[in-house]
Amino acid sequence: MARMLEDTSRTFAEYLLIPRLTRRDQRIDQIDLSAPLSRITPEKPLGLSINIPVVSACMQAVSGTDLAIALARQGGLSMIFCSQSIESQVAMVQKVKAHKAGFVTSGANIKPDAPLQAVLSLMNESGHSTIPVTDDGTSEGMFLGLITDQDFWEFEDDLTNLVSEHMTPKSEVIFGTEGISLREANRLLHKNKKDCLPILTQTGELAALVFKKDYVDHQKHPLELLDDGKRLRVGAAINTHDYRERVPALIDAGVDAVCFDSSDGFTEFQMDGLVWIRDHYGPELVIGGGNVVSAEGFDYLASSGLVDFIKVGIGGGSICITREQKGVGRGQASALLEVVARRDAYFEETGIYIPICSDGGLSNDTQIVMALAMGADFVMMGRYFAMTEESPTSKVSINGQMYKPYWGEGTARAQNWQRYSEGMSSRKMVFEEGVDAFVPLVGSVSEVLETTLHKLKSTMMNLGSDDLAQFRDQAVITQVSEQSIVEAGTANVFKFGRNRDFDESD
Ligand code: IMP
Repeated sequence: MARMLEDTSRTFAEYLLIPRLTRRDQRIDQIDLSAPLSRITPEKPLGLSINIPVVSACMQAVSGTDLAIALARQGGLSMIFCSQSIESQVAMVQKVKAHKAGFVTSGANIKPDAPLQAVLSLMNESGHSTIPVTDDGTSEGMFLGLITDQDFWEFEDDLTNLVSEHMTPKSEVIFGTEGISLREANRLLHKNKKDCLPILTQTGELAALVFKKDYVDHQKHPLELLDDGKRLRVGAAINTHDYRERVPALIDAGVDAVCFDSSDGFTEFQMDGLVWIRDHYGPELVIGGGNVVSAEGFDYLASSGLVDFIKVGIGGGSICITREQKGVGRGQASALLEVVARRDAYFEETGIYIPICSDGGLSNDTQIVMALAMGADFVMMGRYFAMTEESPTSKVSINGQMYKPYWGEGTARAQNWQRYSEGMSSRKMVFEEGVDAFVPLVGSVSEVLETTLHKLKSTMMNLGSDDLAQFRDQAVITQVSEQSIVEAGTANVFKFGRNRDFDESD
């Protein structure tokens, strides 16, 4: 007969934290948010860690190059999706590793003979107010000048006028030449009171742009996640079908960590993959396993001694319909609490600490805080990042509000890539495990993280914690009744406006 668990499947919204003593000497700006990614053993106490406890989900609509760069600059890590050919995933990893902090490839460019109307559309689509003018309208064309929203007035100037009549020509633009250091580029911006500095090749083609706002951003966020060669770190997702080809290619590209992207990692297929990768690449490569939702699943992966971190979560993702489609899954809080308890016992028994990643279903900042208090070392999020400027999808305007498309990896849309990829058997999809949706655009990665991390640190102050390990140890958690959930909201008042949170639905 089936075994019934005693507990009910619970989610983060059903819990609250009880404050502990806040010390006089605590300083919010000195709280340490770093988190381990590799397992910690007595022989190897220091492995790879991230500077903020956040990674982005292995998803097409989330972890592309721009997001990976933006997140690593804030101290987190992206897992570039594997639902694409090995070649294109490798190209993305290479692009992140080749990224020169501060030097940005221009994403919106225009030809000199385009009308002002086209500039206006480009500014609206891209959100950029400075557009380089190149002979062929590409990011690598011959640089001819700059046009900004200061160079023409939308309601005064004739929008059929040509860009060349309004732009600032190259002869009047302050620019740098390829090979210039970032420090020197920033010095030029500062000295000339400019917001944007084009960098040109020796022969005058556009090579990159340097922005004042990136300099300011860097000063505010000094936690960039860098490897020993001062390159940004990046992770990549792998699957249980083609790891023999994908992993070697990713390692050649310089990937810093890989993780299995699977809704159910309690499988012999995943174990075969772990064994093969360790046999071929030894203990140094950081490998994430999962997903699991039980102590049994954790034990299976952990006891192999092959895995670094383990992801927890089945069916909680915002675009996920696994629970409805298959009846498989578990409330994220229950899953996390059970796995963390087992992880801690395993540590007591063996001296080996396995970091836990809470994956999916975090729909507001409070839930991120709760996942970390319940024992996750870091969280993985899809929707949170799909809603940012840097996610790989294009903005869409719906009834005057800007949205971004967001779809699950278990949708036909995501899985269609196999049809176009040689060598992959095109397995027919019988049913979907995810949905295809839109999420509101909320801002840049640095903006959303600033709020989230500030809230996290503020809660850590409430609990008297200086780092995330203390936070987990000191957390006292209470389960709340339905009435308490009602009470937690505002009561009998009219709200004018609202705080910006990343959940528009709550
Ligand atoms: P979110 O942060 O709530 O949007 O959840 C993201 C997580 O959902 C991912 O990291 C995956 O674990 C999971 N996921 C991604 N695509 C699908 C899908 O199509 N079905 C079920 N779960 C998915």
